Amino acid sequence: MFLMNKLLIVDDNEEVRRQLKWGLSRGNYELLLARNGEEALKMFKKSSPRVVTLDLGLPPDENGVSEGLRCLSEMLRYNPLAKVIVITGNEEHGAALEAVTYGAYDYYKKPIDLSELKVIVERAFHLQRLEEENRSLRGSSGNGIVGDCQSMQMVFEQIRKVANSDVPVLITGESGTGKELVAKAIHHRSARARHEMVSINCGAIPENLLESELFGYEKGAYTGAVKTTKGKVEFADKGTLFLDEIGEMPLSLQVKLLRFLQEMVITRVGGREDIKVDTRIIAATNINIESAMADNRFREDLYYRIGVVNIVLPPLRDRGSDLMLLANYFLKSVSGGSGARRFGEEAVMSILNHDWPGNIRELENRVKRAVIMASGAEILPEDLGLKVGGNYRRRLAEEDVTLKEARNMLERDIVEQALERYSGNIVKAAQAIGVSRPTFYDLMNKHNLKSEGR
Ligand SMILES: Nc1ncnc2c1ncn2[C@@H]1O[C@H](COP(=O)(O)OP(=O)(O)OP(=O)(O)O)[C@@H](O)[C@H]1O
Ligand SMILES: [Mg+2]
Repeated sequence: MFLMNKLLIVDDNEEVRRQLKWGLSRGNYELLLARNGEEALKMFKKSSPRVVTLDLGLPPDENGVSEGLRCLSEMLRYNPLAKVIVITGNEEHGAALEAVTYGAYDYYKKPIDLSELKVIVERAFHLQRLEEENRSLRGSSGNGIVGDCQSMQMVFEQIRKVANSDVPVLITGESGTGKELVAKAIHHRSARARHEMVSINCGAIPENLLESELFGYEKGAYTGAVKTTKGKVEFADKGTLFLDEIGEMPLSLQVKLLRFLQEMVITRVGGREDIKVDTRIIAATNINIESAMADNRFREDLYYRIGVVNIVLPPLRDRGSDLMLLANYFLKSVSGGSGARRFGEEAVMSILNHDWPGNIRELENRVKRAVIMASGAEILPEDLGLKVGGNYRRRLAEEDVTLKEARNMLERDIVEQALERYSGNIVKAAQAIGVSRPTFYDLMNKHNLKSEGR
């Protein structure tokens, strides 16, 4: 990728800049130089360097570290994947450690030994590349699955393993967690990639049509069957058959599917001939198959056939820092990589505080919406259709807040959340937070909150 090898050097001292430029210019990367925080941030946002060396003592705080740390956190907020190597003076050991807790990749103490620093920079590029490769597992169709967290790394590992074989795979996960994306990734990495992956939504087709949809029918099998037609299974010959929403499949068809899985032979509706089909089965569901089996809605023998390998996709709320990673990924892809828009501080908080019941699909849709709605360069919580909420915690950490202000912020949050939890039902919301209804109305007025009954 063309963005891969940009290195941004940030230092207010011209001598040091010249030295670094000279020392690092023979690396396999393009150099960008910035003299202060403002310049650095501008270049960072415009050119997306993968690695940055950042002098912490930047003007107007040359002898302190405040401007350097501000610059660092702004960079990481914009692109959490950048590797920022912080460069400090001798006295600033504590600050260097602080920078690392902010998310700096590493720190280096002056005086600078160029060959040493070069090794650190190169390692940062190397690591960045590895992370890039891991993070985005690309099938030949270019379907990227973004994910850094432990559980997604396990998913990637499973995809790699099963792609090389023909074992049936069952993908489970809440709605919008990427089940179809994973199915495609498996198909595209497998030896069957040159043939089709045929998808069938077992939940969306009426029961009486599903059999002919799956297995095809012979001319004259029923009224309207004017010519012999192949089913999806046959179209998936040599390729992959993706059975989406398999948990919704009617029991009668489960029997027929099981027979097919056991013998890899189908019979068209109204036909007598056995047709051999060579296909790989991937199934997906967002229902709990175990309880479906307990309720006799899903056949156990079928489950043991299709669920040889089970890939479990975690909900977005359990993916830790993947949340912002994905948000920025969608922002970039929606705005065509232009980088013209970014999430404001409050938007970031609202993203972190939201529960994401619709998972990655919801995130993708909200980001798309925000790019359309945002009037300036900075995206606000409203653009995402989210509430700020919980923002006071960050403010408390960063500035002096009077007790009265803090009480107000907390109060607003509690009222707002009660409203949300009880879908705008004032009686219940008031009861939940232990105040009378009139008091609750007063609080709503005070904080300019409306009840949007959902
Ligand atoms: N890890 C990911 N990285 C990038 N995009 C993702 C990721 N996971 C999901 N998506 C995107 O989110 C959207 C929803 O994914 P997908 O349709 O695969 O989910 P699903 O689990 O099949 O949902 P449903 O249960 O509603 O059918 C798609 O646009 C997909 O490209
Ligand atoms: Mg799906």
